[in-house]
Amino acid sequence: MDSFRIQGGRRLAGRIQIEGSKNATLPLMAAALCTDGTLTLRNVPCLSDISNMTKLLRQLGVEVDGECGEVKMRVVDPNAIHAKYEIVKTMRASICVLGPMLARRRRARVSMPGGCAFGERPIDLHLRGLEALGAKIELTEGDIIATAPNGLKGTTIFLGGPFGSTVLGTANVMTAAVLAKGTTVIESAACEPEIVDLAVLLNSMGARIENIGSPRLVIHGVESLGSTVHTVIPDRIVAGTYAVAAAVTNGDVILEEFPIDCMLSAVDRLNEIGVHVETIAGHDNPMHATVRVTSDRTLKPTTITTQPHPGFPTDLQAQFMTLVCLAEGNSIITEKIYPERFGHVAELSRMGAKIYRQGPTCVVSGGHPFKGAPVMASDLRASASLVLAGLAAEGVTEVSRIYHLDRGYTRMEEQLNVLGARIERVREESKAPATESASSGASVPVTAKVEL
Ligand code: EPU
Repeated sequence: MDSFRIQGGRRLAGRIQIEGSKNATLPLMAAALCTDGTLTLRNVPCLSDISNMTKLLRQLGVEVDGECGEVKMRVVDPNAIHAKYEIVKTMRASICVLGPMLARRRRARVSMPGGCAFGERPIDLHLRGLEALGAKIELTEGDIIATAPNGLKGTTIFLGGPFGSTVLGTANVMTAAVLAKGTTVIESAACEPEIVDLAVLLNSMGARIENIGSPRLVIHGVESLGSTVHTVIPDRIVAGTYAVAAAVTNGDVILEEFPIDCMLSAVDRLNEIGVHVETIAGHDNPMHATVRVTSDRTLKPTTITTQPHPGFPTDLQAQFMTLVCLAEGNSIITEKIYPERFGHVAELSRMGAKIYRQGPTCVVSGGHPFKGAPVMASDLRASASLVLAGLAAEGVTEVSRIYHLDRGYTRMEEQLNVLGARIERVREESKAPATESASSGASVPVTAKVEL
């Protein structure tokens, strides 16, 4: 397992470009399953999650040409319908093959994804939505078997749950509804920019989705979808993470391809904390702006509550916790999407942070400088928060298990080093094969961990 050794205390300066969005790309790739044409995606990031999705699509009879950058996909065997546990367990987002496969092939078998590092991750809403479209759903040997021998039928569906809308649930139901007979209305649909990107892609393949970006999607079913070429949107979470990297080092950083248009809640919090995000180019194209990030010497505390888009994203909660650890005063962070998503709290505390957690809320008593320490990443965004703390810390921080980071950030150490950070990737190939749950006594290979 690789780790990062970070020499902290270096001020970041310079210019980097934000990569394509992981969470947009995964359901976009899955959409290859619902056309006989060729789907070409551009701006695909080079990540382990993308490689896992490629493996899964190949298992499902899709020819995939290219690993990242430009990726072309085309179905060559529509009879391969089983998304097996070996791949699904590596990545929860595998579930987004269910809707497209069911819609086009009228049957799908997908291994049921498990929980993850930050709690239970149910898929009841995905299944309820597909059932409302007329699918029969069974659970056999840990697999979801969905069938619709006579095709799916448009209907009106309420897709909200106890925590609001569901992103991949909306992706699944929307993609299935595109090929259903008649009109489907999805109420309480997710409004995340990744869902907008998927709807835009589907429409460019011939779908008829209306009210894109609103919580009430109207989808008029079509007979079939064709080929298209589509450029993936920039990654708003990577963009937010690098903006925080600039802020915690009191840096002066220019970020290109910064999708400020879908980051207003995060930018609003940054402003309140005393971090300035100034658009210096691309005012007329705010999903692809160039911004300059600088910060005041004294950061101010704030209140953050995670919510579905356009609220503050849960995927930036950990990184902003690192930031407010450096603010003068008490900040309050409440996690309303995943109440258990606090794997970073104990590790930040090892670096000197003062964080008091009660249920889904943390009070961060800021103004205690980070001190370098060995820490362990527990999931993708928690890992990012530890790297950020390492950049700001006095001394050396070692972040272990950074395979989590490689799922969602393309060579993060190289990007940050371009800006003047000093991060070394320490390869530990010579050590015995790593196990995920060494402390529990189980011997599960790292790759077997169920992911987000
Ligand atoms: N939920 C249900 N039932 C469902 C589905 C979801 O109750 O059937 C609940 C979840 O437990 C959660 C809330 O609804 O409390 C929202 O979950 P959602 O379904 O929106 O999450 P997701 O689609 O599985 C995506 C991202 C996550 C991101 C969430 C929330 C991808 C591949 N994953 O997951 O990204 O945190 O939306 O925005 O798009 C990450 O990139 O680090 C990551 C975890």
